Amino acid sequence: MAAAGKKLAVLVALLALLVGPSAGLLGSGPGCSVFVGWPVPVILRSLICGILGQPYTPPIWRAEPTGAGLSVGYYNNPNNTNSYCPGAEAAVRKAVENAIYQQGRGIGAGLIRLFFHDAFVRGCDASVLLRSTALAGSATEMEGPPNKDSLRGFEVIDAAKEATKAACGGRNVVSCADILAFAARDASDILSGGRISFPVMAGRYDGRESFADETAQLPGPDSSLQELQMMFAAQGLSSADMVTLSGAHSIGSARCLFFTGRLSAMDPDYARRLNENCNGTGSPNNRVDQDPVTSDVLDNQYYKNIDKFVLFRSDAVLVSSPATKQQVDVNVANPSRWESDFAAAMVKMGNIGVKTARVPGQTEIRDVCWRVNA
Ligand code: HEM
Ligand SMILES: *[C@@H]1O[C@H](CO)[C@@H](O)[C@H](O)[C@H]1NC(C)=O
Ligand SMILES: *[C@@H]1O[C@H](CO)[C@@H](O)[C@H](O)[C@H]1NC(C)=O
Repeated sequence: MAAAGKKLAVLVALLALLVGPSAGLLGSGPGCSVFVGWPVPVILRSLICGILGQPYTPPIWRAEPTGAGLSVGYYNNPNNTNSYCPGAEAAVRKAVENAIYQQGRGIGAGLIRLFFHDAFVRGCDASVLLRSTALAGSATEMEGPPNKDSLRGFEVIDAAKEATKAACGGRNVVSCADILAFAARDASDILSGGRISFPVMAGRYDGRESFADETAQLPGPDSSLQELQMMFAAQGLSSADMVTLSGAHSIGSARCLFFTGRLSAMDPDYARRLNENCNGTGSPNNRVDQDPVTSDVLDNQYYKNIDKFVLFRSDAVLVSSPATKQQVDVNVANPSRWESDFAAAMVKMGNIGVKTARVPGQTEIRDVCWRVNA
């Protein structure tokens, strides 16, 4: 019966992709849930939104997340009888270290982004990790425009999952949602050279649903400042959190298609170099470093790069209002202030939409992170 419900949900989600998800099931409300700030073919956009478009309305508005029900050292606490596993966090750490050692620091950037993309869609419940099934139309978050051919680090999470089982005497006790949070924390620590290091609360359960079209809740590279603020506010995060977390664009890479349209707004020499890497607009999927100065260090260089040496409109607009510009200036002048703000904002993001109890049919500790338990 749950399976039939899921099939129906999947069908409706497919329909929603075709006609625009104003249908009630996804809770999108009125408004038009085209992918705001993401390049979507004009024809598709006008089909979904009408020729003139309609304002985007976030499907849900969350209160500021508190983290109630989560705790630091959750798996180290013998009182949590069923989830006691003191080696859990170290096992995740080791998996992240191995991945960065073998694949380079970019994979660490991938893990931090995975955590963000999980948090903004259905909360921190590992919904971003679920693979689509063979059933036609069952596209999961992974297939959404912000994620497809873009997210990386899935196999690191899978390895970390297996490592936690080994560390917990073969028991499946550590949720994939917690693994994502630990991994993002460990990657932040490593990529910042130990300057951004923070305890992470745990006790999240994994969800059982994931829909591609719900990734419209993620802001895009062409988003305006107002859109960025609205989409973070919808998650219970402030404009200040948004500015702080955007500093993650001091690591990792981005594809040409997301910025070749605004080369003329950048520093001319930088734009020329980017243009060469992108072969004009001929190689839209080529990747370039996001931070041309300290490309593999998580640091405040991002704020110094704004606005002539950042890739996206969504980066450049952070200096387009007095309040956000002031915060950018503070982050430029005071690196340790940004580092501690970043740690706090990552913790806050990790509290979004957490599921803290086992509810049969709705939450579980997944046995394998890319599929729901049978
Ligand atoms: C403020 C709104 C944001 C927008 C519009 C945005 C957009 C993007 C885009 C378009 C890319 C490139 C994807 C590709 O080329 O395939 C990217 C990369 C990245 N983003 Fe964001 N992002 C935002 C916020 C964040 C936040 C809050 C974090 C984490 C705290 C984050 C972390 C990253 C990282 C680490 C990468 C590089 C990933 C890699 O190299 O694999 N971003 N972002
Ligand atoms: C475990 O429970 C006992 C009794 O309620 C409490 O005193 C103790 O502080 C708890 N330990 C931890 C690590 O939370
Ligand atoms: C640039 O485009 C040309 C012509 O399409 C192609 O042959 C070449 O491989 C491209 N170079 C890069 C670096 O993508």
